[in-house]
Amino acid sequence: QEGPGEQVERTLVLVKPDGVARGLVGEVLRRVEAKGYRLVALDLRTPTRDLLSRHYAEHEGKPFYEPLVAFMSSGPVVAAVVEGQRCVEGFRSLAGATEPTTAAPGTIRGDLGRDWGLAVQQNLVHGSDSPGSADRELALWFPSL
Ligand code: TYD
Ligand code: MG
Repeated sequence: QEGPGEQVERTLVLVKPDGVARGLVGEVLRRVEAKGYRLVALDLRTPTRDLLSRHYAEHEGKPFYEPLVAFMSSGPVVAAVVEGQRCVEGFRSLAGATEPTTAAPGTIRGDLGRDWGLAVQQNLVHGSDSPGSADRELALWFPSL
């Protein structure tokens, strides 16, 4: 019987401002590398509202959009291009569900996230949600790659 075969993908991983401020960059990257994924590019920067409005275009008009963009542009984030076998779905699985409270133990958000007294947008990490989103987001964040 044949296995799934080679399906090497790239995904965009962000350690959000709360993750950088809490000193969790190393812990997030440790989990990415421990899974067997490879870091292709890595950058610490404070994203502009312009970049974020394109990154989060699907959420424009939703009630959490403005606070989300304000939070994401409030300080440095770590942006990483991550490569590996089916890593788009795989990193989503490492990250866990959107809300830290209900994210499963063993996931980044479930183990390290805290949302008491905080808004949901402070959930430590972002990961592209499909190979198509990954291509679109990687072109925004790393246009030269
Ligand atoms: P979404 O793309 O739905 O979640 P995910 O990051 O898991 O792909 O939403 C983008 C971010 O917006 C999410 O990480 C946190 C924030 N957000 C809120 O603040 N409130 C909400 O109700 C939702 C759905 C998301
Ligand atoms: Mg999303």
